[in-house]
Amino acid sequence: MRIAVLISGRGSNMLQLAAHAGPETGFEIVLVAANKACDGLALAEKRGLSTELVSRADFASRQDQEVALGDAILASGAEIICLAGYMTILSPAFIDRFAGRIINIHPSLLPDLKGLDTHERAIAAGMARHGASVHLVTAELDDGPLLLQAGLDVTKDDDADGLAARVLHLEHALYPFVVSSLANGTLTAGPDNVTWHEGTRVLDSADPAIADVLGDTVIWPAAAEHSENSN
Ligand code: GRF
Repeated sequence: MRIAVLISGRGSNMLQLAAHAGPETGFEIVLVAANKACDGLALAEKRGLSTELVSRADFASRQDQEVALGDAILASGAEIICLAGYMTILSPAFIDRFAGRIINIHPSLLPDLKGLDTHERAIAAGMARHGASVHLVTAELDDGPLLLQAGLDVTKDDDADGLAARVLHLEHALYPFVVSSLANGTLTAGPDNVTWHEGTRVLDSADPAIADVLGDTVIWPAAAEHSENSN
């Protein structure tokens, strides 16, 4: 499965996807695109990945920038678009163009804490649980069917930075796991139907490094069709 990764910042999730790409997981990164010059783009280049800067500053309108971005994605042959810290809200037109083929990682247990500054807000609200979510992207911000989440307990010692680091550690296992599961067909996802075909057993055959991190943190999508019976 060919994926494009869209970034705007440091690119640590993109690098984790790159680290897990290959014949064993069944996915490859065919494009890393950014909407502004950023560390992540430089790191992707250094890694030898195909990169493209589609800067908003170079286009007359957001719409023109998105058309160019979409054209670059289509030219790359990507089948799935992974948002990984792409800090711009995509328009409904872009989302329609790639309907059902865009996924995002968000640093909260959605539907809690949509939007920015999730770690600060989790602490300010005194939340007992926090974590990360991977979901299908729909026109509504940080909405769309959940594919998988990883959760942790917030402790009284957590500050926003510490909590962010603990959640990021989960993200770095969660995103490659979800993408490889889409690639090998153990996960299928559409607007009305998210199915983990092997149920919770899928973690038993996951990369041990990933299974170790995710372990008991995984939250299976409640609304999903969840089949333990099919092969
Ligand atoms: C991550 O926390 C991700 O969940 C959010 O933006 C951040 C990106 O971090 N969408 P990085 O650029 O992958 O390091």
